[in-house]
Formats: sequence, structure tokens, C-alpha cells
Amino acid sequence: MSLRRRLSGVVPGELLEKVPSSLEIIGSRSGAVAIIEIPPELENYKFAIAKAVAEANKHVRAVLRRVGGRAGEYRLYNYEVLLEGPTEVIHKEHGYYIKVDPTKVFFSSRDQTDRLDVASRVGEGERVLYLFAGVAPYAVAIAKLAKPRLIVAVELNPWGFKYMVDNFRLNKIKNAVAIHGDVAVVAPLLRRKFDRVLLTLPLGAYKYLPAALECLEKSGVIHFYHLGKEEDPFGEAEGIVTQICPHCQVVGRRVVRDYAPGVYKVRLDIYKP
Ligand SMILES: C[S@@+](CC[C@H](N)C(=O)[O-])C[C@H]1O[C@@H](n2cnc3c(N)ncnc32)[C@H](O)[C@@H]1O
Repeated sequence: MSLRRRLSGVVPGELLEKVPSSLEIIGSRSGAVAIIEIPPELENYKFAIAKAVAEANKHVRAVLRRVGGRAGEYRLYNYEVLLEGPTEVIHKEHGYYIKVDPTKVFFSSRDQTDRLDVASRVGEGERVLYLFAGVAPYAVAIAKLAKPRLIVAVELNPWGFKYMVDNFRLNKIKNAVAIHGDVAVVAPLLRRKFDRVLLTLPLGAYKYLPAALECLEKSGVIHFYHLGKEEDPFGEAEGIVTQICPHCQVVGRRVVRDYAPGVYKVRLDIYKP
């Protein structure tokens, strides 16, 4: 039964269409957290909405209302707690597990198809550098679905680093190294050792593109994330690549998902000859 149908008779008819038709659920049968956006018109009904979300999704133990956009260096949302419960959960994706508390560190379940796509491109024996790794979901996907030789993941948020280490253990990954630090400091220490670099910071990764190129072997690939407007999703990102690395080739373009109204999160795959 849809959330709107559950709430008919609770939320007045004229406001029912404002009840969100989608929400993000992070977690699994062992417990999940639901994240929902509720418009101001539904302020008086927010707790009823949270109750309906929990009733409709039996594994949900906490319901959080997203307030504003992602902010700060750690790219976190502010949340209003509508249904109090544990927010540390184990999210199950494609046969692997991601332990995360979305109130403490970035995580988006909506990036899972992109994780599959990136993992499918990793060749046997590759050395992968994963910058801005958060709880390291791309590293886990690559380690479990491909056959890399080594993955090095770098994250600044101490909670991200903690969950990254937990996730390598949880998924029995032995060939990944977690580094707690600032990419600006760590990347220059890792020069020319990698076949593939992931730059997963759509708002600002371009500033680190020169450092990422330095980390890459010849014939290596960078997965470069950026934001693009609906009318020309890749234009700005491609302009940046041409400016910073004129001899590089863009060999892949992908709209990862919606980011904001009229704005997409995009990925360019950049080949360094
Ligand atoms: C958009 S999130 C992506 C996280 C992760 N790759 C994922 O897909 O779930 C970017 C991450 O970069 C981290 N970050 C931001 N600035 C950083 C820096 N200078 N050095 C290392 N990590 C940084 C943030 O804390 C955040 O976890």
C-alpha cells in the first residue's frame, strides 16, 4: 500500500498529494533507517507520516526528515528525528554489506548501479586508488565483484574511516588499505602507482584532478565525478578535463542520478595515454 493511501483520512485530502512518493531506506532485515523529505505544508502531520513509513517497512527502526541540502566538508545532511531508533545499520547491496550511520558520514543507496558499473570495468590485477571514499562502498563493490590486486581508499571524516575499516572486515576484504587523511596531503605521497583512480566528490573533485593524474600509471583511467545541468550534463566536466589534461581522452560518460532540480551527478571516464 502506498504511503499516500495509508495516510488518507489522517492527512487532509488537499494535502495528500504533497506526501512524498519516495523515500530512501538504508539498511537490511537486521534494521534500517528511513530518510524522507517532508514539505513545510505537512509540518503538522510529520509524526503521522513517520509512523506510516515504519508501519509500511517492518525493518525500519528510525525515521529521519532531511532538512536542507548536503553541507560541509563531510557532505552531510541535517536531519530532524521523527521516529527515534538506532541509525547505525548494515546495508545490503549486490551480495556485499555496507555498515554505515548516515547521520555521521555520507552514504547514498542510489549510487549502487554506478558502483556495479565501475566494478564491471576493473580488470584483474589492477591497483585502484579511491579518493573521497566515505565508508568505502565502491571499494567493497570492486573487491567483491572484480579481481583487483590492491585498493587504497582515502577519507577525511573519522567516522567514514572507522566504517571503512569495519566494512573491509565485514566483507572479508584483505587487499584493501584504509587511509584516514586529507586527499590534498595523501595523494601526492602516492604518485604513479595506480591503474585506476576514483574521484568521488562531485562538488569539487576537479580541484584534485591534477593530483589524481599524478597518481595514475600510463594507460590508466580516472572516474571523475562532477555536477552537470540537465540541458548539457557533461559539458562543464569535459571543459575541465580538456583544460587540465589536453592529451587525455574522455572514454565514458554516465548520468549517475538526479542531484537537485535540473542538476545531475555525472561521471566521466578519463583515459591517460
Ligand atoms: C560525496 S562523498 C562520497 C563518499 C563515498 N565515495 C560514497 O560514494 O559513499 C565525499 C566524501 O569525501 C570526504 N572528503 C571531503 N573532503 C575530503 C578531503 N579533502 N580528503 C579526504 N576526504 C574528503 C567527505 O567526508 C565524504 O565522505
